[in-house]
Amino acid sequence: MIVLDQENRIFTLHTRNTTYQMKADQYNVLEHVYYGARIDNCELSELLQCGERSFSPNPNEAGKSRSYSLDVIPQEYSTCGVGDFRLPSIELELVNGSHTTDLRYKGFRLEKGKYTLEGLPGFWDTDEEAETLIIFLIDSAAHVEVELYYGVFEAFDLITRAVRIVNQGDETVRLCQCASLCLDFIRSDLDMITFNGHHLMERCLDRGPLRSGIQSVGSMRGISSHQHNPFVMLCDRDADEDNGICYGAMLLYSGNFEAAVECSQYENSRLVMGIHPYHFCWTLEPGGTFTAPEAAMVCSPDGFGEMSRQYHRAIRKHLLRDPYKGIQKPVLVNNWEATYFDFDAEKLVEIAREAAALGIGLFVMDDGWFGSRNDDNSGLGDWQVNLKKLPGGLESLVPRIKELGMEFGIWLEPEMVNEDSNLYRSHPDWALQVPGRAPSRGRGQLTLDFSREEVREHIYTQMKKVLSSADISYIKWDMNRSLTDVWSAGLPAGRQGEVYHRYVLGVYDLLERLHQEYPHILIEGCCGGGGRFDGGMLYYTPQIWCSDDSDAIDRLRIQYGTSFCYPVCTMGAHVSAVPNEQNGRRTPLKTRGVTAMSGAFGYEMDLSRCTADERDEIRRQVEMYKTHYELISCGDYYRLSNPFEDELFTAWEHVSVDKKEALVSLVAGNVRPASPFNRLRLKGLDVSLYYQVNHEEKLYSGRALMQAGYPIPEIRMDYQSLQLYLQAK
Ligand code: DGJ
Repeated sequence: MIVLDQENRIFTLHTRNTTYQMKADQYNVLEHVYYGARIDNCELSELLQCGERSFSPNPNEAGKSRSYSLDVIPQEYSTCGVGDFRLPSIELELVNGSHTTDLRYKGFRLEKGKYTLEGLPGFWDTDEEAETLIIFLIDSAAHVEVELYYGVFEAFDLITRAVRIVNQGDETVRLCQCASLCLDFIRSDLDMITFNGHHLMERCLDRGPLRSGIQSVGSMRGISSHQHNPFVMLCDRDADEDNGICYGAMLLYSGNFEAAVECSQYENSRLVMGIHPYHFCWTLEPGGTFTAPEAAMVCSPDGFGEMSRQYHRAIRKHLLRDPYKGIQKPVLVNNWEATYFDFDAEKLVEIAREAAALGIGLFVMDDGWFGSRNDDNSGLGDWQVNLKKLPGGLESLVPRIKELGMEFGIWLEPEMVNEDSNLYRSHPDWALQVPGRAPSRGRGQLTLDFSREEVREHIYTQMKKVLSSADISYIKWDMNRSLTDVWSAGLPAGRQGEVYHRYVLGVYDLLERLHQEYPHILIEGCCGGGGRFDGGMLYYTPQIWCSDDSDAIDRLRIQYGTSFCYPVCTMGAHVSAVPNEQNGRRTPLKTRGVTAMSGAFGYEMDLSRCTADERDEIRRQVEMYKTHYELISCGDYYRLSNPFEDELFTAWEHVSVDKKEALVSLVAGNVRPASPFNRLRLKGLDVSLYYQVNHEEKLYSGRALMQAGYPIPEIRMDYQSLQLYLQAK
């Protein structure tokens, strides 16, 4: 609910559990007043105190008064060069060379429903379930208007933000920075939580207290990256899963980003999040506009758990555009770890036949089916079937898979090109590279210049041919390198600072065309696993291969970190063979199933090599996942332990929305001899209900399971697992 106090120029955004307030003050500065637990009928601007502070300048309008400074007052969208020396949100360069930016309140507009951003991903609504507030600010010397967008999804405690810049003057303006979100706090005793890692180990939680000065995470790799996720949290120092206030900030963007927090001299703090200023400079001709990508905030007054569940609910309902919405997704089998590049049609059909017999419904043909692609040094860019491997092409292979009762999916890496390809031989200038410099390779490949329409068009035409040649219901959209040599032959020298962002817009453009033309095709995102696991991609690819590390034990950490923002149904997770291809670890097949089925479930192994016992276990897992699909994919998710801290086991729980069912999963770590007897305290149950566990007769009260816990049977071997299915009686 958006509440306006027009007389006092106060804007209050209420969600179910939170309140956000701004005020345009006596100098038309838009102050950030409050964000936190819900407070009704409130005017909180007296919280913002200001007095004379040396070296903190006073705006010209203040005359002789020294008691007001932009350097002290919390700002809604911070500026630079006029007295606020903390992190800026925006920086303009005018033709006279100045970099000063001064924004003052001009007006507002309310709209029903959620705003949309052309060419960019964003949360959406269909029935005006959200409201929009737009606040207009103006830099009157630069003649630049800044529109601050707020989307309020009340039931989800979700406030989305975006920023649009309009050059209303008659001179060119260069935009050197344009953040999506600025959030000021009149406190700095907060912890910052970020999600970091590397290829094969993404989104590991890192928590620490804010320190004086600036601390930040970000990416300058052209992708949101394996290294730092564009989702960060700030919280009370003692906040945990169930207690304390916490703030989540998620950027719906898949390219360079920065999330920086500054603790300033008077123990205030500021979070600024948006496109990374590195090599960013956007030219705004007179009349020109620029839109910064969307950011989405959830505040939970009651710990991380509820913040995550609100993100999960909102993402499932208002971000994903999933062709399987409301329908059960098939379990998939992917041939990558089973065959790598070494396969032919017979081998694929053999794996598919085994899979079909086990209840698996989607066969995905991974890398290696096209051009001269027999290893990873050639072929990218030539999206024509390799007829030596697949005689008769997809026209012959796909019906054979469909006859088994399975859907067919295909791997593509549209953004890339190998120098050893027909595409590169005909259009070498289509790859990103700087004149006079030999470009760096990543995985032996170069990146196509997706900022150029003709390049995208060429790839799309090839993709369409593939997609129309057979009945294809799934695409794995891969991307296997960071960007280097970022220079485009399509732009003049003065506009090269636009290439990184235009590249991302190009990727979104092609994905949107695919979505519009083939809405029935499920696209799974992938970037060497989880290198582009972000809210921007999720808008186009409702599930993303979570990591190239498929080891069940490593996955406990990866999926735990991912779950802070992203719902289980978005995390591609597969059972693979042992010893594991990435780390050589042997884990029980059951445990691999338990871990992977808390995700978009699938297999990635040569099923034709399984023993009869293994086949029985796989059949059981597939059945289990199908039976509890709704509970796992659409239920509420509770983290019961922290795999970065607890060595004995990792546990988590899915609870149905009506609280009548729950599925608890637990995976042991390295077992210690004579280890302590443990109880697991469950969460999210109904205190007034009694539950059966694994269909046994005995009943347990919800209150007892949550307060006293459930006894964990003794585990005597490393990496064993168990699942408890609870049903209210
Ligand atoms: C990287 C992906 O993450 C893998 O799953 C696989 O598709 C390979 N690329 C194929 O080259």
